[in-house]
Amino acid sequence: MTLIAHETFRNANAPLEERVEDLLDRLTLGEKVALMAGSAAFTMHGVERLGVPPVRVTDGPTGVRSNEGEAATVFPVGVAMASTWNPDLTREVAAAIAREALALDNRVVLAPTINIVRIPHWGRNFETYSEDPFLAGTLGTAYVNGLQGEGVGASLKHFAVNNQEFNRLTVNARVDERTLREIYLAAFEMTVKAANPWTVMASYNKINGTYATDNHYLLTEILKGEWGYDGVVVSDWGAVHSTAPAANAGNDLEMPGPARWFGDRLLKAVEDGQTPEHQIDEAARRLLRLILRTGVLDGKDRPKGELRTKRHRDIAARAAEEALILLKNHEDLLPFDPTRVRTVAVVGPNAAARRIQGGGSSAVRAGRQISILQAVQDYLAGQAQVVHADGGDNEPVPPAARPEMFSPDEGRGQAGLLCEYFDDRELDGAPFKSQAERQIGKLVSMSAMGITGGGLAALRWSGWFWPQKDGRHEVSIRAPGDVRVRFDGNLIIDSSTPGEVDDWDIGGMRVERRTAAVELTAGRGYPVVFEYQRPQSLKGVTWEQVIIGVRQPRGSIAEAAEVASKADAAIVVIGAASISEGEGYDRRDLELPGDQNALVEAVLAANPNTAIVFTGGSPYAFPWIDHVPAVLCAWLCGEEGPDAVARVLFGGAEPSGRLPVTFPRRLEDTPAYPYYPGGEEAEYGEGLFVGYRHFDRASEPPMFPFGHGLTYTRFKYADLKAPDEVRAGAEVTVNFTLKNEGQRNGKETAQLYVRPRGPSVERPVKELKGFAKVALAPGETRTVTLTLDARAFSYYDPARKAWIAEKGAYDLLVGASAADIELQATVRLE
Ligand code: BGC
Repeated sequence: MTLIAHETFRNANAPLEERVEDLLDRLTLGEKVALMAGSAAFTMHGVERLGVPPVRVTDGPTGVRSNEGEAATVFPVGVAMASTWNPDLTREVAAAIAREALALDNRVVLAPTINIVRIPHWGRNFETYSEDPFLAGTLGTAYVNGLQGEGVGASLKHFAVNNQEFNRLTVNARVDERTLREIYLAAFEMTVKAANPWTVMASYNKINGTYATDNHYLLTEILKGEWGYDGVVVSDWGAVHSTAPAANAGNDLEMPGPARWFGDRLLKAVEDGQTPEHQIDEAARRLLRLILRTGVLDGKDRPKGELRTKRHRDIAARAAEEALILLKNHEDLLPFDPTRVRTVAVVGPNAAARRIQGGGSSAVRAGRQISILQAVQDYLAGQAQVVHADGGDNEPVPPAARPEMFSPDEGRGQAGLLCEYFDDRELDGAPFKSQAERQIGKLVSMSAMGITGGGLAALRWSGWFWPQKDGRHEVSIRAPGDVRVRFDGNLIIDSSTPGEVDDWDIGGMRVERRTAAVELTAGRGYPVVFEYQRPQSLKGVTWEQVIIGVRQPRGSIAEAAEVASKADAAIVVIGAASISEGEGYDRRDLELPGDQNALVEAVLAANPNTAIVFTGGSPYAFPWIDHVPAVLCAWLCGEEGPDAVARVLFGGAEPSGRLPVTFPRRLEDTPAYPYYPGGEEAEYGEGLFVGYRHFDRASEPPMFPFGHGLTYTRFKYADLKAPDEVRAGAEVTVNFTLKNEGQRNGKETAQLYVRPRGPSVERPVKELKGFAKVALAPGETRTVTLTLDARAFSYYDPARKAWIAEKGAYDLLVGASAADIELQATVRLE
């Protein structure tokens, strides 16, 4: 488009605010209102008349969850990124995600998730960072800077007090003002002020009686007023419940599109005088600011981005490596010496499974997915022999089938099924779309029909199933409508087969899983047909999933113990089942699913050189913890995670992660235990005492404290220097030295906590206010400097509506975890 001199908004060199005002002046009321809702599930509205193109958004935060089903790099999940305690690396990961978003023509990534981990069994713990607002805010800032530094907008989510999936669409979080400010808003405040995310996502839940999207106090008074936020408030998908109240509260954008509550209804609300026109102007101004910031109007000069490049894989690999946490290492069992172990047993249900991310809207289509078993085999190739037994599976229901189990035709040249889609429920007549697809089990309406999800009435997936083992297989289909499954010509499942409803339900619809068992022989193919008919009630729904499950014949604990007994060393890979952790549901307890505790005990009895590798996204109970020698927390570390695990286990890399969440021993020991689940009301009765703020004053110590993590070397902390006295409000600079006294390279994460002495109000014993991750070679010493601002000493006083740094004495505690304080000094604020 040629530049028309008087059209300031087209001039990429004009100041942003001038461009925004110029464009705003040109819009009709109808065009402004149209901007305030999406045009499709992940697309905003543009202004066609003026050549303003629609902005496309996509999910994160683990990578780009492409709306077209394209594969993208899978990075470590949120809790794993937080375990790096490394803002620079977090920024690099987010920058890579931004480049992948650009390559897929998206301008906003719906990330990062920075909600506080309040309960250890929240279904989305894996996706977010920490129980501590300072750590969450520091990493949130880094992530937003990483995305936006590449020209891609962030969506800081979910604002606010979104800390459970139980009743997630309606629950009312009841939280007192001080706790709100100090715990649940603090990370948002820090990130908004430091990194100015282009969008903030209003959450599904209510806060003290009002939906986030209707919450004037939260969106307008605090976020836009007190914090000076100039970006867009976008609703979580389907979180808007009203027209004028939501618009007047400061919810600028209703998603997904097309509009349900905004659009024509909002136009009418303006005409009826329920929403003032200046409110529409203000929202439109923010939306135009976003559109201009993304550069969609400055088309030609935009970077093209890059997808699944070597550079991105390398970043994912470094991030995975730094995320791994050595939780326990009695008598230096780890690292195993690859020149001395001849046979290594890699056993357990998650050894051959490919646990690299959690479920729900953050799940990225992986282009590369290997197991820890495979990674250890690759790492030890030519050096040692790797033997394996699964020791049983940990799946409560048949896990999602892998494409390689099927082929669209008898020839078996290709993985997947022949997928036929019909616009007629009866599956008569010709399909309107028919193709072999590798990816089975998916959001069918969206991926089959394009992202508006319209038109689909029924589907038939058919082909051949190829068992790998002889014996009893369980086959399941999970779908929200009528189903039929034929196996080897027999009807084994139809809608009269009793179904089970599980908790796994992101869209709030009732979905049943139906299962049948079949005896199969490995080596031959079985013809299969899966059919699904969509109910009328799903009109307009884009979350509809059809999932095929297959449980293969499983091994026994005895077999795994036998395999381990003959090896020089054993690695038991345990943890979450494929559906344990995901959006839409919380776990019921902290138990490892299946017989994994018995498996650990049996393998340990068979071979004392046993290390446990845990894969999951949040704490689980480890009843055997006191008598296993070594535990590596491998989280869900993305596509490079398994290789990083192999490197750390065999000494090719140093573990350096630290827990961003406390690992309790029992659910009963955790602070929200008396209040959760609570029905429609979630009482935040523990107040400020979340995570280590609770355990610091509790009688039962946790299994592993916040901030904990070991290395293969040793560090010495010394020479803490801090002023004795400063003026209240002034900065406090703290110095100390760290020395690597061991034999290997390593990274120490030194943590600085502030402990008020005799405060006039009740306060947590201590709070994290600074940290530094320092790489040191053997024998090397480094001085670490950390600076504390007034906020580091403050509490929020609801009566004065202000942060107060009270005069008095404060201990400055420097250490390797919340329970391992190495140095201490005291400063007086005068
Ligand atoms: C999730 C958001 C996500 C959105 C769009 C919602 O259900 O809560 O985190 O960004 O869907 O997929």
